[in-house]
Parts: sequence; structure tokens; C-alpha cells
Amino acid sequence: MARLQRIAVLTSGGDAPGMNAAVWAIIKLAASRGVHVVGVERGYDGLIDGVFQDLTRELDDGGLAPIGGLDWLAGTGGTFLGSSRCTRFLEVEHRAVASDAMRSAGIDALIVIGGNGSLTGAHLLATEGDIPVVGIPASIDNDIGGTTDAIGVDTALNTIIEACDRLSDTARSHHRAFVIEVMGRRSGYLAMASAVAVTADAVLLPEQSRDEDEIVTELEQLLRSSFSGDRNKRRVLIIKAEGVPTPTLILADQLQSRVADLENVTVRPIVLGHLIRGGHPTFHDRMIAGRLALGAVNTLAAGLSDLMLGWQSNIGASTSDPNVSTVPLIEMLAETERLLDGSSEITQMRLHLLSEVQGVLAL
Ligand code: F6P
Repeated sequence: MARLQRIAVLTSGGDAPGMNAAVWAIIKLAASRGVHVVGVERGYDGLIDGVFQDLTRELDDGGLAPIGGLDWLAGTGGTFLGSSRCTRFLEVEHRAVASDAMRSAGIDALIVIGGNGSLTGAHLLATEGDIPVVGIPASIDNDIGGTTDAIGVDTALNTIIEACDRLSDTARSHHRAFVIEVMGRRSGYLAMASAVAVTADAVLLPEQSRDEDEIVTELEQLLRSSFSGDRNKRRVLIIKAEGVPTPTLILADQLQSRVADLENVTVRPIVLGHLIRGGHPTFHDRMIAGRLALGAVNTLAAGLSDLMLGWQSNIGASTSDPNVSTVPLIEMLAETERLLDGSSEITQMRLHLLSEVQGVLAL
């Protein structure tokens, strides 16, 4: 096996806090092993168009170091390399162009940091071409198989908690209910995990596929019992995942008209949306970013390909870090589908746990 000389790194799909920390760790770890790092701009779009920038430079003594002035990276949100949702990469011809662009730039391995769409691209590139590719899971949705946490999830949850605490302050002052939408197109993980952490009164998830009338009737009862003389609660928080089909504004409107007879009770909608994706990464996200990056650099140095580094994974092979495993991308993609269609043991377990606390939430 030829010695690794030049690896490329790209970030793709929805940005996630901690992506920059992973890139920074890759630059430093690779440099310490004498390997150059090249950044790819705008995800797979930049890979197809060959838009690369050197992130490592040669020192006078023959060693390698990160390009000066990049040390702010690890603590920042977003992705400084830029990202895209690249539809061209769905076509095999464009993936071949990307492999050619890497070869022309002397790149001998690639690290893809992103969610399940990006890791699907990584698998196709690894199997169709001859350049080794490994993936690092990063998506606030936590909908990636083969990893307990994806980079960005912890920061997103902390942002949701802070927003809900602030909303609770104002809600309590007015005997008010808030319907709070959090991101998660196909996955209710953020809604489920944050609902428990902020002691919400109810949570709505796409995985539950519930009928709209049933939801509205149940929430009406919740509002009536919460604000009644008996209970006299001062605030109600309903966390709704983005993937639940009823639009949040409409749901809040429907609830408001159902409880029109309750004096002084108001229902307000709020969509947290992209606010949840930004911000400085938490300690946990920076920590897993660094350890997954170490796994990725070591995996490529060992000449392996078509793998994702998973955090506390229930599948895959162990690495030098007891919390990091190498998971075949094909297995990770199959487990992701199961997570999203509800057949995964992990989804079943999460829904079961939620069913146990659902009655408790409303108390
Ligand atoms: O990254 C995943 C995600 O956060 C989803 O939860 C959300 O539906 C989507 O990104 C929004 O993407 P965009 O930024 O392209 O609107």
C-alpha cells in the first residue's frame, strides 16, 4: 500500500455545529503524520468542479502545519468550507468527474462529513472509483444509523433548551401555550429528546403517524385540564417535529379556536427552524468531532475505505478509541433506513420510552 500523502475533506448537506471542529482536527492530525490536507469548497459541487484549497503548508524544517490563521475554526458553527445539497452527485457521470478531479489534484483519499444523503454519496464514490473514502456523521437530526450521536445534535438540543426556557418565561407571564416546531424532516429525535429535557407538556413526532383530528382533540383536552382551576398551570409547551404534516401555524390556530371559551388562555406558534442549526459547538460536539476525526485519519492511513466512523455504535469494528468504531457505509445506510421507517430496534426503543413518559409529560 502506497503511503498516504494528500487527503481531501468536504462538508455536505445541512451544516451542523462541530463540522469545523472535525475539519480542524483532521488538519492537525494529518499534519502530525506528514499528510497534506486539501479542503473542498461547497461539498460535492466543489468536488465535481475541482474547487480545492490547501489547508496544510510545508515548514522550513520539512514538517507540515495547518495554514496560519485557521485556529479559530474549532469553536465556530456552520462550515467554513461551505456546503451544498448537490443533485448532480446523484448521477454516476458526475461522480466520475469528481474522481478525475481528485486524481488530477493528486488527492489520494477523501473524508466526507455530513448526513445520510452525503454518506450515500461517499459510499457510491468509494465503490465506483479507486480513491478511498470514509465518512464522519454530522447532522443535527440524529437520523444516521451506526452512531449514537452525530456531530451537531448536542449543540442543537442545547439551543432548543435555551429557546424553550425563554419561551416558558414569557408563557408563564400570560397563561399561554406555545406550539414549538423544531427541525427534523423525517426524524423526531430532536423533538423527543428536547421535550423531556424542557419538561414540555406534549410532543408530536413524525414516527407516530397520527391522525390530525386525534392530535387536535388530545391537545385541546391537555389545554383544558392544564389551565383549569384545579391544575391552574401557567404555561403549556407542545414540541412538534417539523416532519409532522400539520403546519405549526395552523395547529396553533385550530387549538386557539377550540379553547376560545377559556378566558385569558392564548396559544402561540413558533418555528425555531434554522436557529437550531447555528451557534458555537458544545464541548460534547467538539469532543466527538475530534475523536471521529482521529478515527477517520487512522482508517485512511490503514488503507481502508467505504466506512463511517461511528460514536458508541452497536455495529462495526472497534478502533484504538473504545467509543469509536468503523461501520461499513452500506450497513450504516441500511440501518438509517430502518431508523427512519420505524423498524429499527433503536426507533422502537425510543418510541417505547416515550410512550412510558407521555402520560408523565402532561402532569
Ligand atoms: O440538516 C437536516 C435538516 O436540518 C432538516 O431537519 C431540515 O428539514 C433541513 O435540514 C432543512 O434544510 P435546508 O437548510 O436546506 O432548508
